[in-house]
Amino acid sequence: MRDAELPQTLLEWYDRHARMMPWRTPPQDKCAGVRPDPYRVWLSEVMLQQTTVAAVRAYFHRFTERWPTVAQLAAAEDGDVMGEWAGLGYYARARNLLKCARAVAQDHGGVFPDTYAALLTLPGIGPYTAAAISSIAFDRAETVVDGNVERVMARLYAVQTPLPAAKSELTALAATLTPQDRPGDYAQAVMDLGATICTPKSPACGICPWQAPCKARAGGIQTDLPRKTPKKAKPTRLGIAYLARRSDGAWLLERRPDSGLLGGMLGWPGPVWGDAPVDAPPMLADWQRLNVEVRHTFTHFHLILALRVAEVPMDAAPDTGHFLTPVDFRPSDLPTVMRKAFDLAQGMT
Ligand code: ADE
Repeated sequence: MRDAELPQTLLEWYDRHARMMPWRTPPQDKCAGVRPDPYRVWLSEVMLQQTTVAAVRAYFHRFTERWPTVAQLAAAEDGDVMGEWAGLGYYARARNLLKCARAVAQDHGGVFPDTYAALLTLPGIGPYTAAAISSIAFDRAETVVDGNVERVMARLYAVQTPLPAAKSELTALAATLTPQDRPGDYAQAVMDLGATICTPKSPACGICPWQAPCKARAGGIQTDLPRKTPKKAKPTRLGIAYLARRSDGAWLLERRPDSGLLGGMLGWPGPVWGDAPVDAPPMLADWQRLNVEVRHTFTHFHLILALRVAEVPMDAAPDTGHFLTPVDFRPSDLPTVMRKAFDLAQGMT
């Protein structure tokens, strides 16, 4: 198979095997003239960064039901958006999502720009997302490269350079294949191929539409590729979370500063995480140490969080944070690490 035939072969496979996704316009619908909604494409692509399709589905449904258009999202309260994002992780994405929605509403009349260059100027839209939106929503011949695409290219061309050093080489190879015809479907087809057939551990080469031209398959080295430079071991940080419950059932929470880890999210008060956190309760109370700890892994470190709980009176005056009554507090608004602390404390007290 010549390289020039590869895109068409994959598009034919995609026409039969495209995965159904709530944000996707299936190839048959596009043939019938249905245009993808750039808002849904953008929202899904931001959610899918570092996150699986399975985890994203429910969030995507909740967001689009609550905010069906970019203008509605732009008008949302920050805390409501951060709360709906809770549990998806990488919270800078949610803060940038709101900034981007507001920029589209205010500076672009509520209409997403339709070129790679214009999309790139928006908050939270980097090269990957700009390429994904311009190709999937506007059928522009941009090259979309995520981890799936890197793996497919590394195998198709038997690239021996390890990741992450191989990124630019793999992107250049992917770009040589991007077709002028149906680039949006093609971009999604390569990602689907990587997600369903050219999988990391046991690729289903026997049913792959690119089996014949695949150089890794020819050499029997498909599971060795892409090679990877070993990652540094993650350090462990320690922290303490203070969970104060008032007699009316309100919990003492604080909104974390916008910048930094878990920025803009609700959390339990406590000292900065580090090698030896100092006891720093948010108020005087009869703090009980719980005999359990929360373990959570972030991108760059593991965290072990000790828990302290206290029952406090109605006139409690904390040094930090504010009490949220059961009416105002949805545990689902907490980021996962804080939710784990809440669930453990609830189970113990
Ligand atoms: N991963 C991220 N975006 C995707 C898409 N549009 N199709 C398939 N997998 C994806």
